[in-house]
Amino acid sequence: MILQTQGLSRRFGGLKAVDDVSFAVAEHTVQSIIGPNGAGKTTFFNLVTGALSPDAGRILFRGRDVTGFGPDRLAEMGLVRTFQRTSIFRDFTVAENVSLAIRSRERRNQSLFLSRADEERIDTEACAIVAEVGLAGSERTIANNLSHGAQRALDVAIGLAGHPRLILMDEPLAGMSQGDRASIATLIVRLREEMGLTVVLVEHDIGMVMRLSDRITVFHHGRVIAAGPPAEIREDAAVRSAYLRGSFAA
Ligand SMILES: Nc1ncnc2c1ncn2[C@@H]1O[C@H](COP(=O)(O)OP(=O)(O)OP(=O)(O)O)[C@@H](O)[C@H]1O
Ligand SMILES: [Mg+2]
Repeated sequence: MILQTQGLSRRFGGLKAVDDVSFAVAEHTVQSIIGPNGAGKTTFFNLVTGALSPDAGRILFRGRDVTGFGPDRLAEMGLVRTFQRTSIFRDFTVAENVSLAIRSRERRNQSLFLSRADEERIDTEACAIVAEVGLAGSERTIANNLSHGAQRALDVAIGLAGHPRLILMDEPLAGMSQGDRASIATLIVRLREEMGLTVVLVEHDIGMVMRLSDRITVFHHGRVIAAGPPAEIREDAAVRSAYLRGSFAA
């Protein structure tokens, strides 16, 4: 298992936002977390990525207890979160955005001056990553001028520049057109199949979740109410009653 949580819990006042969640993700899989609004999915991501600390429980990443580790330390170990669009520098080009992430990985971001050779090497790597996410041809485009879908792909590229093993994505398809959804879905499949990554996805588009996931975990009121392969989850009575009838028609 690349990621495991054991009895993970977090309260906000009297509210148990995440309540005794034990969760495991096998390497090289796509695993999704679904559940109604307020079920605790984002809070769970915040705990796993070190943005919030748990009240109880443990987090293991690649077999190591990382409970209490901050986001930077976890990113260095290979656990990154994407689709935080704030990570994009809007006035910089696509390749410059990825180069900055590479420099940050290499801890060169303190030095003001890079040698010409280093700059070229980093730009070459940045352009390769940009191509991997399907943005070849947009290397010199200012990020702000990209379409909504292309900006999400750039977010993934920035994440990939950190050489992750596990990527967590919170609602990567939210607010996107059908065409953009399809291209991000293709990218998610490629992350696993061609780049050997593991993906944990929170997503409300149930049809897409059913198609993309090896395994689905269902949250409700902060607790796991079901976990299994898509076909099993589709038939699960507790899952069906947690959602409005017809949610799984897609
Ligand atoms: N910082 C916070 N302070 C207080 N309450 C919070 C905080 N963050 C989340 N909550 C509450 O915790 C519960 C779980 O919220 P969370 O955002 O994790 O749900 P979610 O499953 O991601 O929902 P959605 O599908 O709408 O994104 C909600 O009741 C929410 O209002
Ligand atoms: Mg959320």
